Amino acid sequence: MFEHLIQHARETREHAYAPYSGFAVGAALLTKSGRIFCGCNVENLSFGLTICAERNAVAAAIAAGEREFTAIAVVADSKTPVTPCGACRQVLAEFGENLDICSVNLAGERFVSKLSVLLPRAREGILGT
Ligand code: THU
Repeated sequence: MFEHLIQHARETREHAYAPYSGFAVGAALLTKSGRIFCGCNVENLSFGLTICAERNAVAAAIAAGEREFTAIAVVADSKTPVTPCGACRQVLAEFGENLDICSVNLAGERFVSKLSVLLPRAREGILGT
């Protein structure tokens, strides 16, 4: 089901700029309209300015005028499949909490989840909601 998306994430991972951690990540986001937007992590000497693959994929999609997403694939060379960090979960939740998340490592192991499970109550209490 996620094959095409995973392949995009895997290819984009090759472009990761991760000289400080050595940990390359690729992400591919599927829009409701069927388009795919990709991102890789872009690190910075300051560390704090590093941007994750997932957030870069969101930025690419938003810049192209897309705001409705159905799934995201994340690929990394990790022992167990990597799920989006807390910051990325919150950014993804901005555009809908029903997102399917498919995490894959290079060994081919998969972990499939939902954003609403990884980040429950994402909007609660913010700006008085
Ligand atoms: N990273 C991502 O790009 N996505 C994740 O889901 C996990 C972490 C990046 C941030 C940093 O460049 C490196 O991986 C190590 O944390």
